Amino acid sequence: MPKIRIMEFDEPQLDQDAPLSLPTCEIQVWQAYTPAFNARVQELAALLSGEESRRMGRFYFQQDRVRFAVAHGILRKLISRYLNTRPRRIDFRNGSKGKPELYGPCAVADFFFNISHSHQLVALAFSKIRHIGVDVEHIRAIPDFEEMAGYYFHPTESAVLQSLPCSKKQQYFFDCWTCKEAFVKATGDGLSRPLHSFFICADNKTAHGILRIKGEGAADWRILPFEPVRGYAGAVAFRGNPPGG
Ligand SMILES: CC(C)(COP(=O)(O)OP(=O)(O)OC[C@H]1O[C@@H](n2cnc3c(N)ncnc32)[C@H](O)[C@@H]1OP(=O)(O)O)[C@@H](O)C(=O)NCCC(=O)NCCS
Repeated sequence: MPKIRIMEFDEPQLDQDAPLSLPTCEIQVWQAYTPAFNARVQELAALLSGEESRRMGRFYFQQDRVRFAVAHGILRKLISRYLNTRPRRIDFRNGSKGKPELYGPCAVADFFFNISHSHQLVALAFSKIRHIGVDVEHIRAIPDFEEMAGYYFHPTESAVLQSLPCSKKQQYFFDCWTCKEAFVKATGDGLSRPLHSFFICADNKTAHGILRIKGEGAADWRILPFEPVRGYAGAVAFRGNPPGG
């Protein structure tokens, strides 16, 4: 049964170079609060590749450029510590449906990652499990969220949403959304897998809080929701069929 370890990446961590280890049965999720890096954005941006710098430059809003530099700079910092290399020596490429992966000399057989960002939070998940996905969402007012759920959620999930008292609907919407996105990010399908084609089974949680997914080709997949920080919802998805899980 994979164990999930949630850790904070704060500003002093930028000066750390100590190697990091990734136990086989662990999914490590680092979370970073972007305003904490305001004074060091240039330093993080300097770690990016030419292609990443161009992507960063295409964002219209400064806050989006900052978040991109923080997410991708910290990604390089952490991978360099896990794989004992330099941050700028790491190469990435996108899979057929856009999932970023390591490429070239750093593409070792048992090291995988996925990232997510929302508002002021960045989450970076690392694992030896090949298929891993993470999603975080800032819980915010969305006026038409029930309509959105009708469009994106499976009918089973929409029915649960409808049955809840008003005070619980928004939290459920974001919990369900992050679980669904973590799953399509773990498979690498992204939005090429229709979000209403599967549902998260919240009714038979394992003792570790791990959820199953129902839908075509989803039997072996598992989801672990987590609360990254107050005001955000988060979930990690992975492939695995642990005994009793
Ligand atoms: C990949 C996707 C599913 C996730 O997007 P998201 O939740 O908006 O954004 P996140 O911050 O969680 O994830 C983005 C990161 O996922 C990674 N990613 C991109 N494509 C991916 C894929 N196919 N599989 C896994 N990861 C992927 C990238 O690292 C990307 O970050 P980057 O652009 O800085 O490199 C995206 O395709 C998307 O557009 N989602 C929005 C869908 C939506 O409106 N859902 C409504 C549900 S109710």
